[in-house]
Amino acid sequence: MRTHKIAAIPGDGIGVEVVDASLEVLDVLASRDGSFALDVEHFDWGTDRYKKTGAFMPADGADQLRAFDAILFGAVGAPDVADHLTLWGLRLAICQPLDQYANVRPTRVLPGIRSPLRHVEGPELDWVIVRENSEGEYAGQGGRSHPGLPLEIATDVSIFTRAGVERIMRFAFRLAQSRPRKLLTVVTKSNAQRHGMVLWDQIAAEVARDFPDVTWDKMLVDAMTVRMTLKPGSLDTIVATNLHADILSDLAAALAGSIGVAPTANLNPERETPSMFEPIHGSAFDITGKGIANPVATFWTAAMMLDHLGEKPASERLMHAVETVTADPALHTPDLGGKATTRDVTDAMISAIRGRN
Ligand code: NAI
Ligand code: MG
Repeated sequence: MRTHKIAAIPGDGIGVEVVDASLEVLDVLASRDGSFALDVEHFDWGTDRYKKTGAFMPADGADQLRAFDAILFGAVGAPDVADHLTLWGLRLAICQPLDQYANVRPTRVLPGIRSPLRHVEGPELDWVIVRENSEGEYAGQGGRSHPGLPLEIATDVSIFTRAGVERIMRFAFRLAQSRPRKLLTVVTKSNAQRHGMVLWDQIAAEVARDFPDVTWDKMLVDAMTVRMTLKPGSLDTIVATNLHADILSDLAAALAGSIGVAPTANLNPERETPSMFEPIHGSAFDITGKGIANPVATFWTAAMMLDHLGEKPASERLMHAVETVTADPALHTPDLGGKATTRDVTDAMISAIRGRN
Protein backbone atom coordinates (compact mmCIF):
# COMPACT_ATOMS: atom_id res chain seq x y z
CA MET A 1 0.00 0.00 0.00
CA ARG A 2 1.37 3.40 -1.00
CA THR A 3 0.86 6.14 1.58
CA HIS A 4 1.03 9.82 0.70
CA LYS A 5 1.44 12.39 3.44
CA ILE A 6 -0.89 15.33 2.83
CA ALA A 7 -0.88 18.65 4.71
CA ALA A 8 -4.41 20.08 4.69
CA ILE A 9 -4.61 23.85 5.23
CA PRO A 10 -8.29 24.81 4.83
CA GLY A 11 -7.64 28.44 5.90
CA ASP A 12 -10.61 30.80 5.99
CA GLY A 13 -14.19 31.20 4.81
CA ILE A 14 -15.37 28.74 2.18
CA GLY A 15 -11.81 27.37 2.05
CA VAL A 16 -12.80 25.27 5.06
CA GLU A 17 -16.04 24.09 3.44
CA VAL A 18 -14.51 23.01 0.13
CA VAL A 19 -11.43 21.37 1.66
CA ASP A 20 -13.63 19.37 4.08
CA ALA A 21 -15.78 18.22 1.15
CA SER A 22 -12.69 17.24 -0.85
CA LEU A 23 -11.09 15.27 1.98
CA GLU A 24 -14.34 13.36 2.36
CA VAL A 25 -14.35 12.54 -1.35
CA LEU A 26 -10.64 11.63 -1.35
CA ASP A 27 -11.22 9.26 1.55
CA VAL A 28 -13.92 7.39 -0.39
CA LEU A 29 -11.74 7.37 -3.48
CA ALA A 30 -8.73 5.91 -1.64
CA SER A 31 -10.78 3.12 -0.04
CA ARG A 32 -12.45 2.40 -3.39
CA ASP A 33 -9.03 2.19 -5.07
CA GLY A 34 -7.45 0.11 -2.33
CA SER A 35 -3.85 0.56 -3.48
CA PHE A 36 -3.03 3.86 -1.79
CA ALA A 37 -3.86 5.77 1.36
CA LEU A 38 -3.69 9.44 2.26
CA ASP A 39 -2.23 10.29 5.63
CA VAL A 40 -3.77 13.72 6.20
CA GLU A 41 -2.57 16.16 8.83
CA HIS A 42 -4.70 19.26 9.45
CA PHE A 43 -3.21 22.68 10.06
CA ASP A 44 -5.35 25.41 11.62
CA TRP A 45 -3.34 28.16 9.95
CA GLY A 46 -5.25 31.23 8.85
CA THR A 47 -6.90 34.40 10.07
CA ASP A 48 -8.24 33.02 13.39
CA ARG A 49 -4.72 32.02 14.35
CA TYR A 50 -3.49 35.48 13.29
CA LYS A 51 -6.07 37.18 15.51
CA LYS A 52 -5.04 35.05 18.49
CA THR A 53 -1.25 34.92 18.04
CA GLY A 54 -0.30 37.66 15.56
CA ALA A 55 0.84 35.15 12.91
CA PHE A 56 -1.05 33.17 10.27
CA MET A 57 1.31 30.24 10.70
CA PRO A 58 4.32 29.43 12.88
CA ALA A 59 7.64 31.05 11.92
CA ASP A 60 8.92 27.67 10.69
CA GLY A 61 5.59 26.90 8.93
CA ALA A 62 7.02 26.45 5.44
CA ASP A 63 9.74 24.18 6.82
CA GLN A 64 7.18 22.03 8.62
CA LEU A 65 5.52 21.43 5.25
CA ARG A 66 8.69 20.00 3.70
CA ALA A 67 7.91 16.68 5.42
CA PHE A 68 4.77 16.22 3.27
CA ASP A 69 4.24 14.83 -0.22
CA ALA A 70 1.67 17.50 -1.11
CA ILE A 71 -0.33 20.37 0.38
CA LEU A 72 -4.08 20.85 -0.08
CA PHE A 73 -4.94 24.49 0.53
CA GLY A 74 -8.34 26.21 0.77
CA ALA A 75 -8.19 30.01 0.82
CA VAL A 76 -7.09 32.80 3.10
CA GLY A 77 -8.76 36.16 3.65
CA ALA A 78 -11.23 37.75 6.07
CA PRO A 79 -13.36 40.87 5.85
CA ASP A 80 -11.72 42.51 8.86
CA VAL A 81 -8.04 41.90 8.02
CA ALA A 82 -6.20 43.67 5.18
CA ASP A 83 -5.80 41.37 2.16
CA HIS A 84 -2.08 42.04 1.78
CA LEU A 85 -1.51 40.74 5.32
CA THR A 86 -3.45 37.53 4.71
CA LEU A 87 -1.92 36.81 1.30
CA TRP A 88 1.66 37.48 2.37
CA GLY A 89 1.10 35.92 5.79
CA LEU A 90 0.05 32.52 4.51
CA ARG A 91 -0.26 31.72 0.82
CA LEU A 92 2.84 33.53 -0.42
CA ALA A 93 4.66 32.60 2.79
CA ILE A 94 4.31 28.98 1.64
CA CYS A 95 4.68 29.27 -2.17
CA GLN A 96 7.77 31.43 -2.14
CA PRO A 97 10.08 29.63 0.33
CA LEU A 98 9.04 26.25 -1.10
CA ASP A 99 9.89 27.65 -4.55
CA GLN A 100 6.62 26.50 -6.13
CA TYR A 101 7.44 28.56 -9.16
CA ALA A 102 5.05 27.07 -11.69
CA ASN A 103 1.39 27.79 -11.09
CA VAL A 104 -0.67 25.67 -13.46
CA ARG A 105 -4.29 26.61 -14.13
CA PRO A 106 -6.29 24.37 -16.48
CA THR A 107 -9.55 25.76 -17.80
CA ARG A 108 -12.19 24.02 -19.84
CA VAL A 109 -15.93 23.99 -20.04
CA LEU A 110 -17.02 20.94 -18.03
CA PRO A 111 -20.00 18.88 -19.24
CA GLY A 112 -23.34 20.47 -18.33
CA ILE A 113 -21.81 23.88 -17.67
CA ARG A 114 -22.48 26.77 -20.04
CA SER A 115 -19.89 29.30 -20.98
CA PRO A 116 -21.19 32.89 -20.90
CA LEU A 117 -19.73 33.16 -24.43
CA ARG A 118 -22.65 32.48 -26.76
CA HIS A 119 -20.47 30.97 -29.51
CA VAL A 120 -18.81 28.46 -27.18
CA GLU A 121 -20.35 24.99 -26.94
CA GLY A 122 -17.50 23.50 -24.89
CA PRO A 123 -14.54 22.00 -26.73
CA GLU A 124 -13.45 25.36 -28.22
CA LEU A 125 -12.27 26.46 -24.80
CA ASP A 126 -9.56 24.15 -23.44
CA TRP A 127 -6.60 26.03 -22.02
CA VAL A 128 -3.81 25.68 -19.50
CA ILE A 129 -2.51 28.93 -18.09
CA VAL A 130 1.02 28.79 -16.66
CA ARG A 131 1.63 31.54 -14.16
CA GLU A 132 5.12 32.54 -13.05
CA ASN A 133 4.71 32.10 -9.32
CA SER A 134 7.92 33.23 -7.66
CA GLU A 135 8.84 36.75 -8.79
CA GLY A 136 7.65 39.38 -11.27
CA GLU A 137 5.16 41.85 -9.84
CA TYR A 138 4.72 39.80 -6.65
CA ALA A 139 8.40 39.57 -5.76
CA GLY A 140 7.73 41.66 -2.68
CA GLN A 141 10.23 44.42 -3.44
CA GLY A 142 9.25 47.97 -2.68
CA GLY A 143 8.28 50.08 0.27
CA ARG A 144 6.79 53.25 1.62
CA SER A 145 8.47 56.40 2.81
CA HIS A 146 7.27 59.66 4.33
CA PRO A 147 4.07 58.09 5.70
CA GLY A 148 1.20 60.57 5.92
CA LEU A 149 3.23 63.46 4.53
CA PRO A 150 2.40 65.17 1.24
CA LEU A 151 5.52 63.64 -0.29
CA GLU A 152 4.53 60.11 0.76
CA ILE A 153 5.81 57.55 -1.73
CA ALA A 154 5.00 53.87 -2.30
CA THR A 155 6.78 51.54 -4.73
CA ASP A 156 6.24 47.97 -5.91
CA VAL A 157 9.16 46.85 -8.03
CA SER A 158 8.71 44.00 -10.50
CA ILE A 159 11.62 41.58 -10.58
CA PHE A 160 12.46 39.50 -13.64
CA THR A 161 15.54 37.32 -13.37
CA ARG A 162 17.02 35.38 -16.28
CA ALA A 163 16.89 32.19 -14.19
CA GLY A 164 13.30 32.82 -13.09
CA VAL A 165 11.99 33.62 -16.56
CA GLU A 166 13.91 30.83 -18.26
CA ARG A 167 12.63 28.13 -15.92
CA ILE A 168 8.99 29.14 -16.35
CA MET A 169 9.39 29.38 -20.14
CA ARG A 170 10.94 25.91 -20.29
CA PHE A 171 8.13 24.56 -18.13
CA ALA A 172 5.50 26.18 -20.38
CA PHE A 173 7.10 24.98 -23.62
CA ARG A 174 7.36 21.43 -22.21
CA LEU A 175 3.71 21.52 -21.14
CA ALA A 176 2.63 22.84 -24.56
CA GLN A 177 4.68 20.08 -26.19
CA SER A 178 2.86 17.45 -24.12
CA ARG A 179 -0.57 18.61 -25.30
CA PRO A 180 -2.03 17.52 -28.64
CA ARG A 181 -2.02 20.96 -30.30
CA LYS A 182 1.55 21.87 -29.22
CA LEU A 183 0.57 25.53 -29.15
CA LEU A 184 1.90 28.18 -26.76
CA THR A 185 0.99 31.84 -26.37
CA VAL A 186 3.47 33.99 -24.48
CA VAL A 187 1.73 36.95 -22.82
CA THR A 188 3.69 40.14 -22.43
CA LYS A 189 3.45 43.91 -22.14
CA SER A 190 6.78 44.76 -23.67
CA ASN A 191 5.49 47.80 -25.52
CA ALA A 192 5.02 49.73 -22.27
CA GLN A 193 7.27 47.86 -19.84
CA ARG A 194 10.50 48.07 -21.71
CA HIS A 195 12.94 46.26 -19.38
CA GLY A 196 11.55 43.24 -17.56
CA MET A 197 9.01 42.39 -20.23
CA VAL A 198 11.57 42.75 -23.01
CA LEU A 199 13.81 40.27 -21.18
CA TRP A 200 10.74 38.00 -20.88
CA ASP A 201 10.17 38.14 -24.67
CA GLN A 202 13.84 37.63 -25.43
CA ILE A 203 14.09 34.52 -23.24
CA ALA A 204 10.86 33.15 -24.76
CA ALA A 205 12.48 33.37 -28.21
CA GLU A 206 15.68 31.71 -26.93
CA VAL A 207 13.86 28.83 -25.24
CA ALA A 208 11.59 28.36 -28.29
CA ARG A 209 14.62 27.24 -30.31
CA ASP A 210 14.82 24.11 -28.13
CA PHE A 211 11.19 23.27 -28.93
CA PRO A 212 10.94 23.33 -32.73
CA ASP A 213 7.75 21.25 -32.66
CA VAL A 214 5.88 23.82 -30.53
CA THR A 215 4.11 26.61 -32.42
CA TRP A 216 4.22 29.78 -30.37
CA ASP A 217 3.08 33.36 -30.59
CA LYS A 218 3.18 36.49 -28.46
CA MET A 219 0.29 38.63 -27.22
CA LEU A 220 0.15 41.90 -25.33
CA VAL A 221 -1.87 41.27 -22.19
CA ASP A 222 -4.61 43.79 -22.99
CA ALA A 223 -5.21 42.32 -26.44
CA MET A 224 -5.10 38.86 -24.86
CA THR A 225 -8.37 39.56 -22.99
CA VAL A 226 -10.02 40.27 -26.36
CA ARG A 227 -8.62 37.09 -27.95
CA MET A 228 -9.69 34.95 -24.98
CA THR A 229 -13.21 36.31 -25.31
CA LEU A 230 -13.63 36.37 -29.09
CA LYS A 231 -11.35 33.57 -30.31
CA PRO A 232 -11.02 31.09 -27.46
CA GLY A 233 -10.34 28.23 -29.87
CA SER A 234 -7.14 29.89 -31.08
CA LEU A 235 -5.48 29.34 -27.68
CA ASP A 236 -4.13 26.26 -25.92
CA THR A 237 -1.22 26.69 -23.48
CA ILE A 238 -0.59 30.21 -22.18
CA VAL A 239 2.33 31.55 -20.15
CA ALA A 240 2.21 34.88 -18.33
CA THR A 241 3.74 36.76 -15.42
CA ASN A 242 2.55 36.49 -11.84
CA LEU A 243 0.17 39.49 -12.09
CA HIS A 244 -0.97 39.03 -15.70
CA ALA A 245 -1.77 35.34 -15.22
CA ASP A 246 -3.52 36.08 -11.94
CA ILE A 247 -5.93 38.37 -13.78
CA LEU A 248 -6.25 36.30 -16.97
CA SER A 249 -7.02 33.13 -15.03
CA ASP A 250 -9.99 34.73 -13.26
CA LEU A 251 -11.25 35.77 -16.70
CA ALA A 252 -10.62 32.22 -17.96
CA ALA A 253 -12.58 30.76 -15.02
CA ALA A 254 -15.52 33.06 -15.68
CA LEU A 255 -15.49 32.21 -19.40
CA ALA A 256 -15.57 28.52 -18.47
CA GLY A 257 -18.68 29.08 -16.36
CA SER A 258 -17.64 30.03 -12.82
CA ILE A 259 -14.69 30.73 -10.57
CA GLY A 260 -16.19 27.97 -8.42
CA VAL A 261 -14.91 25.29 -10.80
CA ALA A 262 -11.35 26.51 -11.43
CA PRO A 263 -8.43 24.54 -9.96
CA THR A 264 -4.73 25.25 -9.63
CA ALA A 265 -1.44 23.60 -8.75
CA ASN A 266 1.55 25.49 -7.35
CA LEU A 267 4.33 23.21 -8.51
CA ASN A 268 7.94 22.77 -7.71
CA PRO A 269 8.54 20.80 -10.92
CA GLU A 270 11.90 19.41 -9.71
CA ARG A 271 10.07 17.93 -6.70
CA GLU A 272 12.64 19.26 -4.26
CA THR A 273 9.77 20.53 -2.11
CA PRO A 274 6.09 19.59 -1.84
CA SER A 275 3.72 21.22 -4.30
CA MET A 276 0.53 22.95 -3.20
CA PHE A 277 -2.93 22.45 -4.69
CA GLU A 278 -5.80 24.90 -4.25
CA PRO A 279 -8.90 26.26 -5.94
CA ILE A 280 -8.18 29.62 -7.56
CA HIS A 281 -11.02 31.35 -5.72
CA GLY A 282 -10.69 33.10 -2.38
CA SER A 283 -12.54 32.76 0.91
CA ALA A 284 -15.77 34.29 -0.49
CA PHE A 285 -17.15 35.87 2.68
CA ASP A 286 -20.39 36.72 0.90
CA ILE A 287 -21.37 33.03 0.90
CA THR A 288 -19.37 31.65 3.85
CA GLY A 289 -21.42 29.44 6.17
CA LYS A 290 -24.37 29.19 3.79
CA GLY A 291 -23.44 25.71 2.59
CA ILE A 292 -23.59 26.73 -1.07
CA ALA A 293 -19.90 27.02 -1.99
CA ASN A 294 -19.16 25.15 -5.19
CA PRO A 295 -16.70 22.38 -4.22
CA VAL A 296 -15.95 21.40 -7.86
CA ALA A 297 -12.83 23.60 -8.11
CA THR A 298 -11.34 21.81 -5.13
CA PHE A 299 -12.37 18.35 -6.39
CA TRP A 300 -10.59 19.09 -9.67
CA THR A 301 -7.65 20.45 -7.62
CA ALA A 302 -7.58 17.17 -5.69
CA ALA A 303 -7.47 15.28 -9.00
CA MET A 304 -4.42 17.34 -10.00
CA MET A 305 -2.84 16.49 -6.66
CA LEU A 306 -3.41 12.75 -7.17
CA ASP A 307 -1.95 12.95 -10.65
CA HIS A 308 1.13 14.70 -9.23
CA LEU A 309 1.43 11.96 -6.59
CA GLY A 310 1.49 9.32 -9.33
CA GLU A 311 -2.05 8.06 -8.66
CA LYS A 312 -3.24 8.44 -12.24
CA PRO A 313 -6.15 5.96 -12.23
CA ALA A 314 -7.57 7.52 -9.06
CA SER A 315 -7.11 10.99 -10.51
CA GLU A 316 -8.98 9.96 -13.65
CA ARG A 317 -11.76 8.36 -11.62
CA LEU A 318 -12.12 11.56 -9.62
CA MET A 319 -12.30 13.70 -12.79
CA HIS A 320 -14.82 11.31 -14.29
CA ALA A 321 -16.98 11.73 -11.16
CA VAL A 322 -16.62 15.52 -11.43
CA GLU A 323 -17.84 15.41 -15.03
CA THR A 324 -20.73 13.10 -14.15
CA VAL A 325 -21.82 15.50 -11.45
CA THR A 326 -21.47 18.72 -13.48
CA ALA A 327 -23.39 17.14 -16.35
CA ASP A 328 -26.51 17.16 -14.14
CA PRO A 329 -27.90 20.72 -13.80
CA ALA A 330 -29.78 19.63 -10.66
CA LEU A 331 -26.35 19.38 -9.05
CA HIS A 332 -25.28 22.92 -9.91
CA THR A 333 -24.63 25.32 -7.03
CA PRO A 334 -25.94 28.93 -7.24
CA ASP A 335 -22.73 30.27 -8.87
CA LEU A 336 -23.67 28.07 -11.85
CA GLY A 337 -27.29 29.18 -11.74
CA GLY A 338 -28.53 26.14 -9.80
CA LYS A 339 -29.92 25.42 -6.36
CA ALA A 340 -27.69 22.58 -5.14
CA THR A 341 -25.72 22.80 -1.90
CA THR A 342 -22.11 21.83 -1.21
CA ARG A 343 -23.52 18.76 0.56
CA ASP A 344 -25.64 17.72 -2.45
CA VAL A 345 -22.66 17.94 -4.79
CA THR A 346 -20.38 16.08 -2.38
CA ASP A 347 -22.91 13.27 -1.89
CA ALA A 348 -23.33 12.95 -5.65
CA MET A 349 -19.55 12.76 -6.07
CA ILE A 350 -19.34 9.99 -3.50
CA SER A 351 -22.09 8.01 -5.27
CA ALA A 352 -20.39 8.52 -8.63
CA ILE A 353 -17.07 7.24 -7.25
CA ARG A 354 -18.65 4.25 -5.50
CA GLY A 355 -20.69 3.36 -8.57
CA ARG A 356 -17.90 3.13 -11.10
CA ASN A 357 -15.75 0.05 -11.71
P1 NAI B 1 -13.41 35.27 -4.06
O1 NAI B 1 -12.85 34.33 -5.04
O2 NAI B 1 -13.37 34.87 -2.65
O3 NAI B 1 -14.92 35.60 -4.45
C1 NAI B 1 -15.30 36.25 -5.65
C2 NAI B 1 -16.77 35.93 -5.97
O4 NAI B 1 -16.87 34.58 -6.43
C3 NAI B 1 -17.70 36.03 -4.76
O5 NAI B 1 -18.94 36.51 -5.16
C4 NAI B 1 -17.81 34.58 -4.29
O6 NAI B 1 -19.02 34.29 -3.64
C5 NAI B 1 -17.72 33.82 -5.61
N1 NAI B 1 -17.09 32.49 -5.39
C6 NAI B 1 -15.76 32.25 -5.20
N2 NAI B 1 -15.57 30.94 -5.02
C7 NAI B 1 -16.77 30.34 -5.09
C8 NAI B 1 -17.20 28.98 -4.97
N3 NAI B 1 -16.35 27.97 -4.75
N4 NAI B 1 -18.53 28.74 -5.09
C9 NAI B 1 -19.38 29.72 -5.33
N5 NAI B 1 -19.05 31.03 -5.46
C10 NAI B 1 -17.74 31.33 -5.34
O7 NAI B 1 -12.62 36.65 -4.28
P2 NAI B 1 -12.70 38.02 -3.45
O8 NAI B 1 -14.11 38.30 -3.05
O9 NAI B 1 -11.96 38.97 -4.26
O10 NAI B 1 -11.82 37.75 -2.18
C11 NAI B 1 -12.32 37.32 -0.91
C12 NAI B 1 -11.14 37.09 0.00
O11 NAI B 1 -10.39 35.98 -0.46
C13 NAI B 1 -10.16 38.26 0.08
O12 NAI B 1 -9.71 38.35 1.40
C14 NAI B 1 -9.04 37.87 -0.85
O13 NAI B 1 -7.81 38.44 -0.52
C15 NAI B 1 -9.02 36.36 -0.62
N6 NAI B 1 -8.44 35.60 -1.72
C16 NAI B 1 -7.63 34.56 -1.37
C17 NAI B 1 -7.10 33.74 -2.33
C18 NAI B 1 -6.27 32.58 -1.89
O14 NAI B 1 -6.21 32.27 -0.73
N7 NAI B 1 -5.60 31.89 -2.78
C19 NAI B 1 -7.38 33.95 -3.75
C20 NAI B 1 -8.29 35.04 -4.02
C21 NAI B 1 -8.79 35.84 -3.02
MG1 MG C 1 -6.22 35.44 -8.08
